[in-house]
Amino acid sequence: MCGIVGYVGHQQAYPILIKGLSRLEYRGYDSAGVALINQDGLLQIYKTKGKVKDLENQVKDKDVSGCIGIAHTRWATHGEPSDINSHPHFSENHRLALIHNGIIENYQALKTELIRKGYHFQSQTDTEVVIQLIQYMMDSRDASFDDAVPMALNHVIGAYALAIIDKTQPDKLIAARKGSPLIIGVGEGEFFIGSDATPIIEYTKKVVYLGEEQIAYIQLGHELRITDLTKIEYTPEVRELDMSLSEIEKGGFPHFMLKEIFEQPRTLRASMQGRLHPELGTVKLSGIIDNRDRLLQAKRFIICACGTSWHAGLIGKYLIEELTRIPVEVEYASEFRYRRPAIFPTDVVIALSQSGETADTLAAINLAKEAGAFLFGICNVVGSSIARATDTGCYTHIGPEIGVASTKAFTAQVTTLFLFALSLAEQLGTVTDEHRARLVNELQIIPDKIAAILEHDKEIADMAKTFTYARNFLYLGRGYNYPIALEGALKLKEISYIHAEGYPAAEMKHGPIALIDEEMPVVVIATRRGNYDKILSNIQEVKARKGRIISIVTEGDTDVKALSDWHLEIPDTEDCFEPILSIIPLQLLAYHIAIAKGRDVDQPRNLAKSVTVE
Ligand code: G6P
Repeated sequence: MCGIVGYVGHQQAYPILIKGLSRLEYRGYDSAGVALINQDGLLQIYKTKGKVKDLENQVKDKDVSGCIGIAHTRWATHGEPSDINSHPHFSENHRLALIHNGIIENYQALKTELIRKGYHFQSQTDTEVVIQLIQYMMDSRDASFDDAVPMALNHVIGAYALAIIDKTQPDKLIAARKGSPLIIGVGEGEFFIGSDATPIIEYTKKVVYLGEEQIAYIQLGHELRITDLTKIEYTPEVRELDMSLSEIEKGGFPHFMLKEIFEQPRTLRASMQGRLHPELGTVKLSGIIDNRDRLLQAKRFIICACGTSWHAGLIGKYLIEELTRIPVEVEYASEFRYRRPAIFPTDVVIALSQSGETADTLAAINLAKEAGAFLFGICNVVGSSIARATDTGCYTHIGPEIGVASTKAFTAQVTTLFLFALSLAEQLGTVTDEHRARLVNELQIIPDKIAAILEHDKEIADMAKTFTYARNFLYLGRGYNYPIALEGALKLKEISYIHAEGYPAAEMKHGPIALIDEEMPVVVIATRRGNYDKILSNIQEVKARKGRIISIVTEGDTDVKALSDWHLEIPDTEDCFEPILSIIPLQLLAYHIAIAKGRDVDQPRNLAKSVTVE
């Protein structure tokens, strides 16, 4: 979703801002813009529908000088993607410029009122009311720039991360947040801001995470000042970023998505590191150890998530129920938050989110907190909003995931859910020592098995070219591989724009079978452990209707292979680890089909990496 970058310091701002916007491209966006104050005090805005490259082309012959600026990538919510609706936005008298992430819910009422008072609006955005409202506070109440910001924000309902500059104060930048994240980088005599750490990391590792409903007054030659909306001062807590620049670069791969698929042997080890103790056959998660009593008393787990994380949550349900015998429900956070779910203080709600910023997941856990449930967060981004809003939890520790289509985060989430389930099972005594040791030993070698699957990349790339004609795909799986059918289909539709549906294989007879003909590729996850005989019958049913079978089979399989038009092998493993292996060829298949169709896999149309609006 929208990206924010800001700079004030001794360097030229424009190159830093443009590089920052490029680093934020992964979030998904449809327009880009920048505001700069030059040394003559002129505040200039350049913005355009399209990519950061289009913005660079637009400013080629323009004055982009100045040591202060704000820049934005917009993902349209209110008003179509267009030059005018792009950020930054000017205030009425062009003294102020603002960029914004989030949604201003009461913008219509504010806009009507401001129009009545003589203010003119250029765009259809919700954002423009904020900057007009700030100017209104300056005009009508004689407020200073510093005071006008909280005065205006006290009238705003909704979510925001925003940054504002004032052409009469070219050494100052004001930022504020509610609901959407904002990070301030503290350099030597310079400051940076970002909607996440990626635009900041190459300049400084010292950061301050702006808190909920806080305002940062960032001024050269002054200490960073933070207040809340009632002007109470807070001491900024400077933290050290534990992310490196190489982690957010492509490392020789043509796309972040491919790099991240190939990183999975390493990232899986990172998720287990320090937690898995093969010599003892045990798992230790500090989030569980520190809250042992609360977690062991759980009568039910509710996993709340969106998108790919929701699919990982489904596998988590199977894992936790199998190993601990405690019931688990998996909820789309967006549904959970808007119905009246029955939540009890004996429930433990697990928030599963790569970014830790998904608006619906955050709202769902806040609802659960009000009902007295205990909150456990599984996030990737350290210090993210969900990580901070939960009572305890654990990180997946896989470094930044840049590709919009989630890959390494998914396998890390499944692994972490397994560690969670096994650690609880160990304490509850619901698994035997022998069973536990077997699982721990097997998990340890899963990264090597992933590496072996990745060696088939070329073969999968060749095969993928066959399917560029397809308009529909069906994915089928049973048991632990049913969520993989869903995730495999999601990967394909996200990046290739081919319609794909995932189904539990036995449900095929209840509808999707009507779609099958000789045009229809059907991906069947038919590994030896997962109800093999039953899935074999499902394949026969597809064949009888001339469907074209692509199967994922266990190495050494003969029966399914004989019925398949194409097959991809994965090594044998315990059935609870099959999803971590069976998703790998499906990630590669989706990637290569999308490439063969000429798609922009890292920034697929209309999608955002982190959905920070509902
Ligand atoms: C977006 C992303 C997906 C992701 C989902 C949930 O839709 O494009 O890849 O799975 O959000 O994100 P989260 O950060 O909460 O896991």
